[in-house]
Amino acid sequence: MRGVHTILAPAFFLLLASLPSPTRSASLRRSTLYRGDSIAVEDASGDVLVSPSGNFWCGFYKVATNAYTLAVWFARSADATVAWTANRDAPVNGRGSHAVFLRDGSLVLQDFDGHVAWMTNTSGTPADRVVLLDTGNLVVSDAGGSILWQSFDWPTDTLLPYQPITRYKRLVSASAKGLPYSGYYNFYFDSNNILNLIYDGPEISSNYWPDPFKQWWQNNRTAYNSSRYGSLDRYGAFTASDHTRFNASDVGDAGVMRRLTLDYDGNLRLYSLDNGDGTWHATWVALPRQCDVHGICGRYGVCSYLPELACSCPEGFVPSDASNWSKGCRRREFYDVRCGEPVYFAEMPGFDFWGFDFNYTPGLTMETCRKICLDDCDCQAFGYRMGTGECYPKITLWNGRAPDIVKQNIFLKVPTRIKGLKPAVLEFHGHDCTVHERNASVGSSYFQHVRGNKISFVYFYSFLAAAFVVEAIFIAVGYLFVFRADPAASGRGVRDDEGYALLFSHFRRFTYDELSDVTGKFTHKLGRGASGTVYKGVLDDGRSIAVKRLDDLTQADEVFRSEMSVIGRINHMNLVRMWGFCSEHSHRILVYEFVENGSLDKALFCDAGGEDALGWRSRYKIAVGVAKGLAYLHHECLEWIVHCDVKPENILLDAELDPKITDFGLVKLLSRDACGRLVMSGRVQGTRGYVAPEWAMGVPITGKADVYSFGVVLVELMRGRRVSDWVVVVVDGREEGDEDDARVDLQRMVEWIRGEMKKGDDERCSWMEEEFMDPRLRGDFSHLQAAAMLELAVSCVDDDPSRRPSMDAVLQKLLLLEDTASMRYA
Ligand SMILES: *[C@@H]1O[C@H](CO)[C@@H](O)[C@H](O)[C@H]1NC(C)=O
Ligand SMILES: *[C@@H]1O[C@H](CO)[C@@H](O)[C@H](O)[C@H]1NC(C)=O
Ligand SMILES: *[C@@H]1O[C@H](CO)[C@@H](O)[C@H](O)[C@H]1NC(C)=O
Ligand SMILES: *[C@@H]1O[C@H](CO)[C@@H](O)[C@H](O)[C@H]1NC(C)=O
Ligand SMILES: *[C@@H]1O[C@H](CO)[C@@H](O)[C@H](O)[C@H]1NC(C)=O
Ligand SMILES: *[C@@H]1O[C@H](CO)[C@@H](O)[C@H](O)[C@H]1NC(C)=O
Repeated sequence: MRGVHTILAPAFFLLLASLPSPTRSASLRRSTLYRGDSIAVEDASGDVLVSPSGNFWCGFYKVATNAYTLAVWFARSADATVAWTANRDAPVNGRGSHAVFLRDGSLVLQDFDGHVAWMTNTSGTPADRVVLLDTGNLVVSDAGGSILWQSFDWPTDTLLPYQPITRYKRLVSASAKGLPYSGYYNFYFDSNNILNLIYDGPEISSNYWPDPFKQWWQNNRTAYNSSRYGSLDRYGAFTASDHTRFNASDVGDAGVMRRLTLDYDGNLRLYSLDNGDGTWHATWVALPRQCDVHGICGRYGVCSYLPELACSCPEGFVPSDASNWSKGCRRREFYDVRCGEPVYFAEMPGFDFWGFDFNYTPGLTMETCRKICLDDCDCQAFGYRMGTGECYPKITLWNGRAPDIVKQNIFLKVPTRIKGLKPAVLEFHGHDCTVHERNASVGSSYFQHVRGNKISFVYFYSFLAAAFVVEAIFIAVGYLFVFRADPAASGRGVRDDEGYALLFSHFRRFTYDELSDVTGKFTHKLGRGASGTVYKGVLDDGRSIAVKRLDDLTQADEVFRSEMSVIGRINHMNLVRMWGFCSEHSHRILVYEFVENGSLDKALFCDAGGEDALGWRSRYKIAVGVAKGLAYLHHECLEWIVHCDVKPENILLDAELDPKITDFGLVKLLSRDACGRLVMSGRVQGTRGYVAPEWAMGVPITGKADVYSFGVVLVELMRGRRVSDWVVVVVDGREEGDEDDARVDLQRMVEWIRGEMKKGDDERCSWMEEEFMDPRLRGDFSHLQAAAMLELAVSCVDDDPSRRPSMDAVLQKLLLLEDTASMRYA
């Protein structure tokens, strides 16, 4: 279980941070809504409907910065797990939204602009009250108590005890962890009256539970009872009319709160709540092997245990979108098979791609099976099982697994142009370290973490029968046996150049000539950094790129590979995206997205006056964005990363003046030691004026070094001048000295700021306006924000790393005041 907790902990904190705190004001907790009553979004944690025992609350639930749903949640679970959502696909604004029990009898969810996001069908009925029952059922009833509408009739992804699943209801998974949106997995009664799990995606639909290899009678189901009814009782036993039966592992205990949830990963799990610490434990799972869930890795994708769940692409294929495995893989351009051209079949031993067979026939020789596929242009591959001679020609490849428990091989059609393709699965962990930023329908920005491949093993180890664990070990060992025993197969992908390209193939590999072309032979120079020179280029598809030639060749390869392995996994809107690379002879070149507005130092320090100077809003936005990017690097990536060279030169601004941090040349991978501190491996370098004092002391560099540099940047955002220039002039007119002097001066400046900040409000305000802040702002800034930012900056540049706040805490502070735009010039 320990491993489980460490895996889940970061996601858990993320969740906690974004939830309405269940303990704040008690002012508006109600048990009943009468006609005319409403619940307002503004006090999401206090204005709630509470069930008699207090087990369930109903109210507004925060799903993103400014996006809320009307939901029922478990009040006693630590992360306030949602049991039901009214408007899962259309969240409403965090201001001005209401749930109103209208005088016509309907319960209506109104967005800030009056738009109705959701409503019950009880308008014109004698509806009298809205109550939340102890079962978690939100009910609209008449004066006599008969139910006119109930949330139990409209399940989302969760069934509660005594909430039946019937002919008209289905569970639909969430699209990603922590998001409310509808995903592709469904739990429902099919036309055969059988309870099913199905992946119902944009391209394919595919059943995966109960065992799709078997007929319903072999699965111990019955198709003859058309009442289509199933439910979980309070003791933890589930029964249904099709004879689906399963029990929680703690069956019989009626005092436990349970839920049956179709999780976003497509697995159906029964959970019990631990009353002690408010966490959930899975007590039953439909598919002990997560790779049996269909659609999980998309088209051509292969699901495997390494030993954790991971999606990969077979050789010759590249991920379509590394941040979203449901998009699967695609053939690399030159591997496309054209109809009629000479082909051969590359063997993928131990693989299976489930489904999409045409012309399945048992008892064929392999040669006959091969011929069937060869003669059909639509056939992409065939599966063949030795012994039984089962032949499965496939028109498309989905639901890939490796190695498969059923011994069969897949033979992939490859054009003869391609020599010696030996399909093998590469270890490509595309799920790691990915952030999906998307807009809610209300125009706010989503900020959620997806770690799709980290979930399943949790339940696997902890709750399943020993037999399954044995099976897991078998699978893992099987993998090692098949792939590791063959050095040619296992070494591929990392060693030779081609394999290297495949390993990181979600970005493109460029040739030197190509880059020379698109940059006009490296003429348009954008700038020079510590590790190389940056040029501008335009790709054939019109995208502008920044091309960085690394010039320190003795170290370049190492730097290069470290950059590749780090940047390749990073995707965040406040970090510059990498689109490719070139590694040819002595050339080591990185290809980044081009960021329009140049770097922050140009915007901030050059002498643009009046209109051209960055306004306060932009500066605050930049501070928040940079903090988000750094917090992501420090706290959210699975590999924790210290930037080590945070300075205005490394902060680029896009067209909307949103910041993007660049230059990961100094980034090294970090490991967490026992104390949870970040420990630096290898040598690092920083930039004068921005480096923390611990650099000089030879102690391990942690994320707190970035916090220090960020503090300096904050001061510069406010002041509009380099701290290093300004310290010398303002404090005592000393000449620029060495790094030590610069830091001593900074500390003196900090003392000075502290002194001024202690003074009364009026004095402090005039000091800030007249002496401290950038005169180009002409006093046009929020004192509230500036004072908070200054205070934050001072704490960030503390000499003692342990007294500096973490980047997460810094971000939280900045976000707290982000919305004070209305009091801006107060
Ligand atoms: C509202 O919809 C539910 C489910 O479809 C139905 O059972 C109920 O009768 C409807 N109520 C009214 C008042 O139409
Ligand atoms: C069906 O039930 C029989 C007898 O209880 C059992 O042996 C068999 O394993 C079950 N089959 C499945 C697929 O659960
Ligand atoms: C069909 O299923 C329902 C609900 O589980 C049950 O009450 C009923 O007895 C079943 N009918 C038959 C014929 O088995
Ligand atoms: C579930 O538990 C009940 C006792 O609570 C038992 O009668 C039943 O056989 C169990 N069902 C299964 C499928 O294990
Ligand atoms: C992943 O891609 C699919 C389309 O294939 C899209 O519908 C879905 O929203 C994407 N998911 C995320 C989290 O971006
Ligand atoms: C988010 O919304 C803003 C403003 O409506 C828009 O400019 C931006 O392109 C949207 N971003 C995404 C990722 O949809």
